[in-house]
Amino acid sequence: MMQAKDKFFVAIDVGTIDEAKRLMDSLVDLVTHVKVGLQLATRSSWGEAVAAAHERGFRVFCDTKFKDIPNTMEQASFALTQHKPEFFTVMSDNSQAALEAVRRGVDKAAEGLKLVEKPKIIGVAMLTSISPEEGREIYGGNLQEKALQFAGNAADAGLEALVCSPEEIGLFRSQPKLNDVIIVTPGVRPAWAAAHDQQRFATPAEAIKKGADMLVIGRPITQPPSEIGSTQEAIKRIIGEIEEVL
Ligand code: C5P
Repeated sequence: MMQAKDKFFVAIDVGTIDEAKRLMDSLVDLVTHVKVGLQLATRSSWGEAVAAAHERGFRVFCDTKFKDIPNTMEQASFALTQHKPEFFTVMSDNSQAALEAVRRGVDKAAEGLKLVEKPKIIGVAMLTSISPEEGREIYGGNLQEKALQFAGNAADAGLEALVCSPEEIGLFRSQPKLNDVIIVTPGVRPAWAAAHDQQRFATPAEAIKKGADMLVIGRPITQPPSEIGSTQEAIKRIIGEIEEVL
């Protein structure tokens, strides 16, 4: 059984590698997983970001959100796997051929590197920032139906994990095809934290109870409210809340 401290990624949403290293330093011994994203990797690089995380003993999730033609998807996934992240994302609103190319890129790289643990590919079925109206405009259909379709395509292509908002966990979990998929859920807010720009959120305990395997939590930890006081205290409380439902 996983421990509560292994159930969430802390989002390292900063602009430079030096800031990222400082933030990661403050998390050593408190958490085990971090997530790095486009802002940091565009300024620095995926390789540097992964190395900074691994040097500090963290498992790392690269939120790459790849979306391109199959050949580029395969080559980019092959290239990213050279850095040996534990997880990375691709947009799953893409062709089946492109999603299968990602699987191939990782598998080939892992074989070449003789990796014991391959990076887990996380499909982003639908960006949670997209409203039902925008979804209809972009995809020409019901947002949740489209999210389910893209999630199913990801599972068919052999991707191990999916990102979804707390609201969709139940829907995803009810699909036999998605039974074994790892569900990663951002939009998590403890009762004591500010919502910031998250519209649809759940507490850590609610998200785990609904069936999320892993959570992504950023600002409640990196910018805790003054009554909580410190990142350390915020993490302690979140771990306590998760422990109650494990
Ligand atoms: O600070 P906060 O907890 O809102 O950070 C959530 C993290 O999860 C951010 O890095 C954000 O980009 C990411 N994320 C999200 N919603 C998604 C996908 C990723 O909030 N649908």
